[in-house]
Amino acid sequence: MDSLPVLDETQVPADLDLFDEIDRLKKARSAVVLAHYYQEGDIQDVADFVGDSLQLSQAAAKTDASVIVFAGVHFMAETAKIVNPDRTVVLPDLSAGCSLADQCPADRFAAFIAAHPGHKVISYINCSAEVKALSDVICTSSNAVDMVNLFPKDQPLIFAPDRNLGKYVMRQTGREMVLWDGTCQVHEIFSEKKLVQLKVRHPDAKVIAHPECEPQVLRHADFIGSTAALLQYAVKHSDPAFIVVTESGILHQMQKAAPDKQFIPAPPEGNCACNDCPYMKRNTLEKLYLALRDLRPVVDVPEPVRRAALKPLTRMLKRDLNAA
Ligand code: 13P
Ligand code: SF4
Repeated sequence: MDSLPVLDETQVPADLDLFDEIDRLKKARSAVVLAHYYQEGDIQDVADFVGDSLQLSQAAAKTDASVIVFAGVHFMAETAKIVNPDRTVVLPDLSAGCSLADQCPADRFAAFIAAHPGHKVISYINCSAEVKALSDVICTSSNAVDMVNLFPKDQPLIFAPDRNLGKYVMRQTGREMVLWDGTCQVHEIFSEKKLVQLKVRHPDAKVIAHPECEPQVLRHADFIGSTAALLQYAVKHSDPAFIVVTESGILHQMQKAAPDKQFIPAPPEGNCACNDCPYMKRNTLEKLYLALRDLRPVVDVPEPVRRAALKPLTRMLKRDLNAA
């Protein structure tokens, strides 16, 4: 990992046209900018590809660019490196982590697996490369149900690290799994009471929610899906308004794709802006420009870990438990 994690944004002259410069540098570096839907709007607008975690890992696997600038969080950039060891992968702010990944350290996870002999391990992509390396298969929020259904019905399963996504998958598949007790700090904070109050004020609005939310919030949802699925649902359905229960960054694409519809962010507990992911929002346009200019901070994965983590990722990308 790069020893100088945070680039100094004050280095960027205020009169620089960042959009033009980023465009110029992308060509000069033969770079592609991949951005998650939770990035700030300007970053989404300069990106070559914007998507959910599955789409981004697919885009990373098939790019022929020499440099991948990952506008997302660390586990996403790591995934890009795992599938693309020969390319330079940079993350505008190396401290862009994830509460789910942080709550599942590899040494404790290895002990958890050892305590459940005979179980296969399915890990949500929101985890470190070391945890991926301990897993049989990876999933994202958009394919978790499908990936679990690939296993024979009588195969005992461990699902980690998101207990809420795990519970959602258990409800959808009707099968029991042993869950790691992790949560996303953004999605666990939505208030059921405030959501119900918002529904009363907006009776015409459909509630669309991400499966990382707590079950008591999800039971009020008309539709549950990954960020890409939520966007697609909101664009396709003719309803005039949507209450959006996920990180606020997705509203940028929703508003762009359907300017005549109303998108209402669901309220978190208290009066905080906790539906902004503090990790995702560590990246800024200035840091992205500096990352492209200086080709750092780079994300690297030790080769033995990378090779072990590639197997479960390949099984996901090929939708085949026997791949790799
Ligand atoms: P998706 O990209 O699968 O919708 O997941 C959202 C998320 O929390 C990414 O960190
Ligand atoms: Fe992690 Fe939640 Fe932020 Fe996604 S939104 S990166 S799961 S903390």
